[in-house]
Formats: sequence, C-alpha cells, structure tokens
Amino acid sequence: MPRFEMERWQSTYERGVKFNLSESGIEPITLRELLDEEEVRTILKVPLGYAETRGSEHLRSAIASLYEDCGPENILATTGTSEANFLAALGTMGRGSRVVTILPNYMQVWGIARFLGCDVEELRLREEAGWQPAEEDVKGSVRPGTRAIALSNPNNPTGARLTEESRRAINDAASEANAWIISDEVYRGAERKGDLSPTLWGEYENVLVTSGLSKAFGLPGLRLGWICGPRDMIEELWAIHDYTTIAINKITEAIGALVLARWREKLWARGREIIRRNFPLLRDFVEQTDLAWVPPEAGAIAFLRYPWEMPSIELATRALQRDVLLVPGSQFREEGYLRVGFGMDSEVLERGLARLESLFEEVDAG
Ligand SMILES: Cc1ncc(COP(=O)(O)O)c(C=O)c1O
Repeated sequence: MPRFEMERWQSTYERGVKFNLSESGIEPITLRELLDEEEVRTILKVPLGYAETRGSEHLRSAIASLYEDCGPENILATTGTSEANFLAALGTMGRGSRVVTILPNYMQVWGIARFLGCDVEELRLREEAGWQPAEEDVKGSVRPGTRAIALSNPNNPTGARLTEESRRAINDAASEANAWIISDEVYRGAERKGDLSPTLWGEYENVLVTSGLSKAFGLPGLRLGWICGPRDMIEELWAIHDYTTIAINKITEAIGALVLARWREKLWARGREIIRRNFPLLRDFVEQTDLAWVPPEAGAIAFLRYPWEMPSIELATRALQRDVLLVPGSQFREEGYLRVGFGMDSEVLERGLARLESLFEEVDAG
C-alpha cells in the first residue's frame, strides 16, 4: 500500500512535540466533562459482549437523526471515519476501476484506490476560486466509466465548503457517469461561520456519506464512525465489515448513542466556540507574515501558502526543530503549503505560532 504520509508523520512526532499544530479536530473532551452521574452508571452496566455487528438500532437511529429522510436502515456503524472510508472505497471501487479523487484531500481513499490498482484521476480544487472545483474540470474528469468520486466536505486541508454550484456540478457529473460519490463529512458541525454545512445526503441518490465523532465533536478516542447510504449498499458494506472489525466497541456504542441523543448541540457549540475564539490568533499571525490563505469556513484547519522556494517537508522539519508540528502540503500532493490546525488549547496555539513567526523571519532573511 502507498504509505499514508500524513498519518505516519503525525504518529511519529505528535507525542514528543511541545506545540502540536498538526491536529485537525477540536481539543478532545474528557468523559468526566461529558457525562453526568446517571449516565456514568448506565455505562458501567453495559455488558462487554459483542455489539450488534452493524450497530444497535438505537445508535443507528441516533446517527440517522443527523440527516433528513434517513432511517437506521441507511446507517452502518464503523470504527472511526477511517473504517467508513475503507469500506466505502472497497464497496464502490473494483480492482483497476476508474475513480476520481478531489485534491487536496485527506489522502486515505486516494491511497486505497492506488492499492486497488485503480486508474486514479485527480480533480484539483482551485485556490483562486476559494478552493472550489472548476465546472469544466469536473466534467472533464468524471467521464463515463468512472466508478466513484471521493471528496471531503468541509474539506481537509483547506476548511473550504463546496458551494451549491460546485455540489450541483459534481452531482450532475456523477449522475451522468452513474458513479458513486464518497463524501467524507467528518468536519460537518465545526463551522467557523454560518449554519451546519450542507450534506450531500439527499442531493444525489448514489452517495455514501462517511463521518464520525472524531472532529467536530472532539471525541476521536471513541473511534465511532458511520456510513450513511442507500439501504442495499449499506447491506453490502455491512458484509465487508464482517471482514474488517465485525462490530464497533461496545462501550463506544453506548457513549456514542448518548452523545448523539443528548449532547450533540452542546458539543457542536463547544467546538464552534473554540474555533471562533482561536481563529483571530491565526488570522493575526497570517497577516503579520508573508503567508497567503483562503480563510477556512469550517474545520479547525487552514491551508497556508508560503512564498519561499522550499519543499514543504523541509519547512515542516525546520518547524519541528523548534518543537512545532504541522503538516507539509506535500502530504496532500500540494507543494508550497502548510496545514495548521487551530482547534487546540489557545495558549499552545499562540506559543506555537510565535515560534513559527520567528522561523519564518529566519527563512525570510535567507
Ligand atoms: C477527512 C478525514 N476523514 C477521516 C479522518 C479519520 O477519522 P477517524 O479518526 O474518525 O477515523 C480524518 C482524520 O484526520 C479526516 O481528516
């Protein structure tokens, strides 16, 4: 399999580093902050058997309530959004088939498609258009014979959201090619401005929405994800899930159902509050440096363009020498950029950015 560069980069350095600005989600919350005494007692009573293999009806109904015209039969519970993406890719892409991935993007589905020997066409978002795809590029890449189109919306790494026009162009092209869309929406709910980001669910028939509690909810350690899709396809993906993890973690199932039924709005509000509080720190930093950006609309991440002729891995390595971890653009197949997260503790962010500022001054001075 192609190496998942970003995941390996993060797991190698995130533990020892002082200022981890590589995280894309919201600062995680503890169980103590989340659950009341009665809920804790409920969790303590959960028998540690296998969970129902597609997720209990109770959990799937709670997940389904995030989407309109969606029922438990449209949901498969998975171990994180990663497993959801893995199953969605396996279920839609045949060996050697033609697939399109939007770039820049979280590189998981791209890597799986390469592993499957697919003919992977890259559809580039355009920075000058606010990280939207050009309609002619959509039409040119999603040709007949395309089996699947993978995207993330809100997008990782840019924090941009597809406009209605872009979504329509992608949906129309997919419909014409009879292709599946895999829409990774794990950052939905982490909006810096505006309402809840629109979902592709309900906009196009053959869509698989993947998501989970890892980003907007600040609960990556629970490892709860899901796929939302047409009933028949969910049954097929469930059969693949028998080969991967069988069932999700039983405690996760219980906590996940509580979170979605009772704490959803509270957690989303917490996430947005952190994003809105930290955003000005990042904005001031960008304004004081030679960096350029399209300010992110959602997700606690920004994709910053730098003006120096230097590979992004070199710049990221120099940041690491100053105890700051961020993600080089090359790990999204975009040179000349750095991805910086801003969903963490404000002090860590502020101090990490100050170190970056002095690094950039050094680079500027040659
Ligand atoms: C777009 C996207 N999808 C999926 C994942 C992985 O999610 P999870 O931790 O729920 O497996 C990430 C993690 O960074 C991500 O950015």
